[in-house]
Amino acid sequence: MQASAFWLEIAYLIGSLSFIIGLKMLSHPDSAKRGNLYAAAGMGLAILATLFFHENEGQGIRNLPLILLAIAIGTVIGWLMAMKVKMTAMPQMVSFFNGMGGACAAMISLIEYNGHHTQDLWLIIVIYLGLVIGSISFAGSMVAYGKLDDRIKDIRAGWLRLLNMGLLVLILVLMVLGVMHPDQPMYIWITLAMSLLYGVLFVMPIGGADMPVVISLLNSFTGMAAAFGGFLYDNQVMLTGGILVGSAGMILTFLMCSAMNRSLWNVLLGAFGGGGAGAAREMGDQSIREISVTDAAVLCAYARKVCIVPGYGLAVAQAQHVCHDFEKLLEEKGVEVYYAIHPVAGRMPGHMNVLLAEADVPYPKLREMEEANDAMPSTDVSIIIGANDVVNPAADHDPSSPIYGMPIIHVTRSENVIVMKRSMGKGYAGIENELFFAPKTRMLFGDAKASLTALVGELKQI
Ligand code: TAP
Repeated sequence: MQASAFWLEIAYLIGSLSFIIGLKMLSHPDSAKRGNLYAAAGMGLAILATLFFHENEGQGIRNLPLILLAIAIGTVIGWLMAMKVKMTAMPQMVSFFNGMGGACAAMISLIEYNGHHTQDLWLIIVIYLGLVIGSISFAGSMVAYGKLDDRIKDIRAGWLRLLNMGLLVLILVLMVLGVMHPDQPMYIWITLAMSLLYGVLFVMPIGGADMPVVISLLNSFTGMAAAFGGFLYDNQVMLTGGILVGSAGMILTFLMCSAMNRSLWNVLLGAFGGGGAGAAREMGDQSIREISVTDAAVLCAYARKVCIVPGYGLAVAQAQHVCHDFEKLLEEKGVEVYYAIHPVAGRMPGHMNVLLAEADVPYPKLREMEEANDAMPSTDVSIIIGANDVVNPAADHDPSSPIYGMPIIHVTRSENVIVMKRSMGKGYAGIENELFFAPKTRMLFGDAKASLTALVGELKQI
């Protein structure tokens, strides 16, 4: 083995290990940031080693200055986007970057098809698979990005699903024809066009609110497409990275679905978000009770145990820092405070964990849903900040509700419930929440940040 090939193998081994270790470290907030950096460093090492050590028939990589320029431009754009993005716009960015990964995988297939592998049966199969999955992932991610950014509206038509099924069959037929006739480039171009069209039409009917699940699924597709690229090049680091992304994305997709008690099929058919009998039902003439900031502050200050249930509204209001101040002030007064974290609170996996970590809330204060529910009977006040669906009791007892069966945080088991939100506006599922009308509940209307700031002010007076 030549020295350059040896160092390349070593760099790939280190790169692959860094992905695995990085991924493992992502499972805890304390180590997540470092894990991300380790994996990124491993990727950087693998790229540099390829550029400087890869040889083909005794020749190194050509066009090095152009490649380095492209990397520099991509790095600057990616860095700027990541610095500028708001926490609530994170799913859009993930979708956009994922789409870029899919496009790269599809391009690798196209380039390799035009190269010299086209007579090898296995390689042509892998080329077609990478092309189809990569281009579906690219087009689908771009539509998902547009939907999350409110640039594209849902199209929910029955015929679209039929058309999609037809398209999928057509793509499979084209792939078979393309593999059987590798010397006819016509098939690869039509397959590319159909896959791009399918990517767009497959995401089109899915409710904008279900996009996080779809993004995770597309993310897994991109991983698979990249793994096919790894096969093509016999490149272990690409293969490892692709397999990790593919399987992690798939696991995450199923975890999200099960946390919402919905099947992947139900998500893909778009049967959610404002439709259904439960959504149409209003709460009749039931009335709500409000609470003033002063009364809410007094109730919390004299409680023994307070539970904070954060939701999407806390993220929108960017109220995490003032929420932490509120929690610290209560603790100074001898109140025990904990946060109840629902697995799908917010709009992306781990949204609340990330948000609260950003405000330096100590991790042990965060309790997972089951643990929080166990603590509810001994809790004096549950204070719900910008959450809605994740505390909606309809999930427990109303089979007509679109969220029926989704596990929730049982705030009504605590002594008192305060709900902080701006209005009687609905949440992600687009349905009423009977919790707001419950005898124990009192509403504190206003933007979460403004209300928490006022609460902090009041607490300082007590
Ligand atoms: P939601 O049910 O979406 O409710 C958020 C509430 O926040 C709204 O009712 C809104 O009421 C309030 N709000 C918005 N802006 C606010 C502000 N500035 N200040 C105060 N309140 C504000 O949120 P949730 O309880 O966190 O539930 C998450 C939902 O997303 C679930 O249905 C879940 O299935 C879904 N989902 C989550 C994920 C992941 S992975 N997290 C993925 C897919 C779907 P007002 O307009 O009245 O203020």
